[in-house]
Amino acid sequence: MRSAKRLGNRRAFLRYLAASPILAYVGLSSRWVEDLMEETAAAQDSTALDRQNEVIIKSVKEALSVFDFDAVARTKLSPAHYTFITDGSFSNETLRANREGFSKYAIRVRRLTGITKVDQSIRIFGVNWDSPIFLCPVGRMNAYYPQGAVVVARAAKATRTLQVLAGSQVIVSDPKAIEDVVAARGEPVWVAGLGDTLDGPLVKRIEATGCPTLVWTIDDGGGNTIGAKSVQRANVANLDREADSRCVGCHGNLPKVNRIAPGTPMNVVGAIGSLRGENSIKLNWDDVRRLRDMTRMKLVLKGIVAQEDAELSVRNGVDAVLVSNHGGHEDASGRGTIECLPEVMAGVGGKIPVFIDSGFRSGADVFKALALGATAVGIGRPYIWGLSSFGQEGVETVIELLRRELQVIMGETGAASIANIRRDSLVSRS
Ligand SMILES: Cc1cc2nc3c(=O)[nH]c(=O)nc-3n(C[C@H](O)[C@H](O)[C@H](O)COP(=O)(O)O)c2cc1C
Repeated sequence: MRSAKRLGNRRAFLRYLAASPILAYVGLSSRWVEDLMEETAAAQDSTALDRQNEVIIKSVKEALSVFDFDAVARTKLSPAHYTFITDGSFSNETLRANREGFSKYAIRVRRLTGITKVDQSIRIFGVNWDSPIFLCPVGRMNAYYPQGAVVVARAAKATRTLQVLAGSQVIVSDPKAIEDVVAARGEPVWVAGLGDTLDGPLVKRIEATGCPTLVWTIDDGGGNTIGAKSVQRANVANLDREADSRCVGCHGNLPKVNRIAPGTPMNVVGAIGSLRGENSIKLNWDDVRRLRDMTRMKLVLKGIVAQEDAELSVRNGVDAVLVSNHGGHEDASGRGTIECLPEVMAGVGGKIPVFIDSGFRSGADVFKALALGATAVGIGRPYIWGLSSFGQEGVETVIELLRRELQVIMGETGAASIANIRRDSLVSRS
């Protein structure tokens, strides 16, 4: 507290100095003072953030925002797992852009709206969900919590939330993931297949579980996820990996805690290796048509960010698109998805639903996407932070927090239902 006050005093003094003739006397330019002011402002902001992050909540009841779960997850996970979730790729440009994109829009609230009840329910492909917030596919969930995918399924069931399961679980770490999740959920779930790992046999297997909707993720561009790899390269101990049977699927049977088994999926692959690795870049629209003809499941393309690709999606018989950049995990475009949404909306021209994810951390963020025309909004890291922190209760609380925030903003903008959210509730800050 005292240091924040000191920084505030320092800023006031610098402001006085910048306007004073003393500077010219001692031969300094006002630019020098402006630089110092910028540094001071940054220090002040990070001080406030640091203070918030110092509080590690002990129970879900203490949570004020989804970021509280990020702070707990950091204490519970190994450094490599934590950075693998949280970091982006390359130099984090897209990760930052996803968050910064929201500040380009402000919400035009009204007063005295008289709204006493808000209905957040939506209908997708003939099925009702309690809110437009859904859970994105995230691979290797056992790394974050025992039986992670099943625990998330229970939370999704309890909150009547759409959950998209990552098909990569099946390939990499949890061969029975789809069947186990369907059993926990008590009904089939949507499944996502990743790039060129989605082959005919996997499509048939997904179909056999009764999955109504197949999501094809086409934005895994072999992103150079530097964060986790740098932790691995530094040989930071991965806590109890050696003794933990959950880890063997990804890490092999490790004789020593500090070693990463050569040839296993989690072996460090440097920048060049990752760029050569498996990715969706080599795929094309013939592959979309082939997949379309292969199955009767609804088909959603995940990763569409450009108007032309939105138009091509409609022309190739896709049932919905998901505007996504993998949460900045795989992409160095430096464009936030909220910035891409208007052109994707223009591309589909209202013919198919548009979903969106990447960077959504509050009800206000969700509201902005809905006001721009999105049908539903996905979250990835927030629910994984919740899962890592407090298991099922953590996931449920993350969902509830976001719903409650959305509810307030809907009330403040006079929208009693999702269909009543209007574009003119947003103001663009151009
Ligand atoms: C650690 C991690 C693993 C992911 N694994 C997958 C995956 O296996 N399949 C997939 O389609 N998307 C995957 N994603 C992307 C998410 O589905 C989603 O697009 C992203 O997390 C949304 O952004 P957010 O985390 O900022 O909310 C992953 C994202 C993260 C952070």
